[in-house]
Amino acid sequence: MTARILAITNQKGGVGKTTTTINLATALAAFKKKTLLVDLDPQGNASTGLSFHPQERRIGTYEVVLGDIDIAQAVVTTGIPDLWLLPASPDLSGAEIELVNQNEREYRLKVALETVMSYYDYILIDCPPALGLLTLNALTTAGNVLIPLQCEYYALEGLSQLIKTIMRIRQSLNSKLEILGIVLTMFDKRSGLSSQVAEDVRQTLSDKVLQTVIPRNVRVSEAPSHGKPALLYDINCLGSQAYIKLAAEILKRKWSTI
Ligand SMILES: Nc1ncnc2c1ncn2[C@@H]1O[C@H](COP(=O)(O)OP(=O)(O)OP(=O)(O)O)[C@@H](O)[C@H]1O
Ligand SMILES: [Mg+2]
Repeated sequence: MTARILAITNQKGGVGKTTTTINLATALAAFKKKTLLVDLDPQGNASTGLSFHPQERRIGTYEVVLGDIDIAQAVVTTGIPDLWLLPASPDLSGAEIELVNQNEREYRLKVALETVMSYYDYILIDCPPALGLLTLNALTTAGNVLIPLQCEYYALEGLSQLIKTIMRIRQSLNSKLEILGIVLTMFDKRSGLSSQVAEDVRQTLSDKVLQTVIPRNVRVSEAPSHGKPALLYDINCLGSQAYIKLAAEILKRKWSTI
């Protein structure tokens, strides 16, 4: 068996990538799937959201992607059964520049993950809000992409650029890459705009858009300051319930394996 790898990406900032990665990873672990969360964003929000604060992070994604560190040395347990984390190390912010001069710079993460691929059922990669070399590394490593899309006016514009990039990568660097789905996030049912955008996106991209919609929910936004996934902070809130539904839905989708 080899892990199913999912990159959670959107070059637009603040659309719910990290929140989705943390809560989806936790829900998969709750379904007894051995899950590794890779924090590939120099902001390190996924690491902080799981209680790994910058001062506690010695080695992590940076050393694994750029150095000779074996990934097994950098992965940490999270206190949540079946969920492991490869934290973002503080140096990761320099990686975009340093990678430029490296051999095989688009494949560094892929090579690093190869040794642990058979151990996990799922590997989720939280990407930074840019289409730079770090995101490129995620998209050569993953077979599948999940795109969180915030229900707001400009949502579709950025999306077409992202889809074009994914198509280009499929033609050149990773022929296995597929869009697993687009998930609507921070949906506000009282807002006409949210409903309008959701309708437009469904009309344009039909079955690529997942049925599960993540509502805007204050408990979800409070959870990271407690160092916990929303699922552990308040399992009964609407946001947590939506993420459990999302995990169940994506488990039934057709996955591409590398
Ligand atoms: N369903 C939700 N309900 C309420 N707040 C949310 C929800 N999802 C995300 N947020 C909040 O929105 C903000 C942005 O979310 P998040 O950090 O997940 O986005 P991101 O795409 O990872 O951002 P970045 O591009 O900076 O990495 C955060 O403050 C988060 O707590
Ligand atoms: Mg983020």
